[in-house]
Amino acid sequence: MNISIIGTGYVGLTLSALLARVGHKTHCIDVVPEKIETIKTGKSYFYELGLDNLVKYGIDSGNLIPTLDYGEGLKDADVVFLSVGTPSGKDGGLDLTYIFDAVKKAAKYVKDGVIFVQRSTVPVGTGEKAIIIMKEANPSLKFTYLSCPEYLRESSAVLDSIIQDRIVIGGDDKKAIQKIFDIFEKIENEAEEITKETPEISKYANSYMHSNEHKTMKFSDKCITTCLESAELVKICANSFLAMKISFANNIARICDSVGANVNEVMDGVGMDRRISRSFLYAGLGFGGGCFPKDVKGLKKSLEDHGIDSDLIKMIWKVNEEQVDYIVEQVKKMNIFKGARVGMLGLAFKPGTSDVRVSPACRLGKALSKAGYYVRATDPQAINDAKKEFPEEKNLKYVDTVEEVFDSSEIVILATDWPEYKELDYENLSKLMSKKNFYDARNCLDKKSMSKIFKFENLGS
Ligand code: UDX
Ligand code: UDX
Repeated sequence: MNISIIGTGYVGLTLSALLARVGHKTHCIDVVPEKIETIKTGKSYFYELGLDNLVKYGIDSGNLIPTLDYGEGLKDADVVFLSVGTPSGKDGGLDLTYIFDAVKKAAKYVKDGVIFVQRSTVPVGTGEKAIIIMKEANPSLKFTYLSCPEYLRESSAVLDSIIQDRIVIGGDDKKAIQKIFDIFEKIENEAEEITKETPEISKYANSYMHSNEHKTMKFSDKCITTCLESAELVKICANSFLAMKISFANNIARICDSVGANVNEVMDGVGMDRRISRSFLYAGLGFGGGCFPKDVKGLKKSLEDHGIDSDLIKMIWKVNEEQVDYIVEQVKKMNIFKGARVGMLGLAFKPGTSDVRVSPACRLGKALSKAGYYVRATDPQAINDAKKEFPEEKNLKYVDTVEEVFDSSEIVILATDWPEYKELDYENLSKLMSKKNFYDARNCLDKKSMSKIFKFENLGS
């Protein structure tokens, strides 16, 4: 099949490479020349485990064709997946400029019978507007528009795109919908082989999505067909609900700090209830990344646009916004004051990615610098991105090694839970410090053993 993808971000490039891997002639289109140039060399331009392998396979086989040219990229397409960015707009809602520009332009180049599939997260009602825009751009075009949002997580983007936990397609053209289910089933059928070629892709995948129970589930049982509006809402609701779980855990962590309870123990107990589940109840610095922050704000705006009270969603955002300041307060309680050197481990918004969009770790670095501390931070992958999105300041420097983070620091804070930070030689590193204080803002280190080396505190215990 001839398939085109518009937007080569985490969502678009991962899908493009997989489609090429299973034999489709796949054009991937972007508007940024450097991105297309890098992909042409057989590499991804961002860090995502296993993706380079797949991109290389696509380029070498000739199945993956990166291009800046909409005409070349779209003229033969049977299916067009749309995965351009939907960042937060000035009014708090999702900015749909890229989506509407892309469909308007694309409608002029595609052939009759083409199926458009929206993969980006969009507010409810976007599909209806996109259809009008395409009809205006090319009144004689015969096309189908479907909404089929993606659910992949950065750091396990490849695996999440091979084995999806559900595929929700909104629209009313049953034949077109089946065609899209078939495309995804073909990818899932090759899961074992692709995973063998790139074993590293499962390193960060730890959820139900990749459990045995899920692997043995019949593909058709995961396929859900809805109306366009419902499919659009499923995605934004799922992300907001997960964000709500995190804010709930962070809120409870504060009472745990006050009364001497342990938030991990509390959430272990709460999460044992299968109706609730333990996942996304890990208290920490709060959520960041390219999706949760903008989707929570986007849902709030959609509710308000329809005259519906958005207080519940507002609180998810409020708790998350406060979390970084709460951690700064906890550091002060350890008698670390203005002017002190603070080391920080981690900058990425979560482990396994170089992405620092709305990263709580970077925001903590900025907050500490603003409060008068002298901060040095490092990360295994995200230093370059951090330099661009959260530029260095007089009091905030990004350093290459963990030794520089510990050197002369009065406290070190663990801000991103990279697995490699769980295995550091803390005994030796502590010798570099001027005072041996440690704060685990991700609750991922063993309190008992760390307390033998440091005056050790963590969130919510
Ligand atoms: C994006 C959306 O942000 C998210 O809401 C959705 O769920 C899936 O698609 P992601 O792939 O992480 O997620 O976004 P990003 O990495 O920003 O990639 C978007 C790509 O689209 C970029 O490569 C950008 O250059 C490209 N783009 C943007 C276009 O090709 N055309 C445009 O007009 C604008
Ligand atoms: C998310 C969704 O999980 C995915 O389905 C969607 O398509 C895109 O958005 P992603 O942003 O890659 O994926 O990361 P995710 O693993 O969901 O984590 C988001 C943020 O929440 C991170 O900052 C992470 O550190 C934080 N988090 C997650 C917690 O603080 N506690 C948790 O229990 C889980």
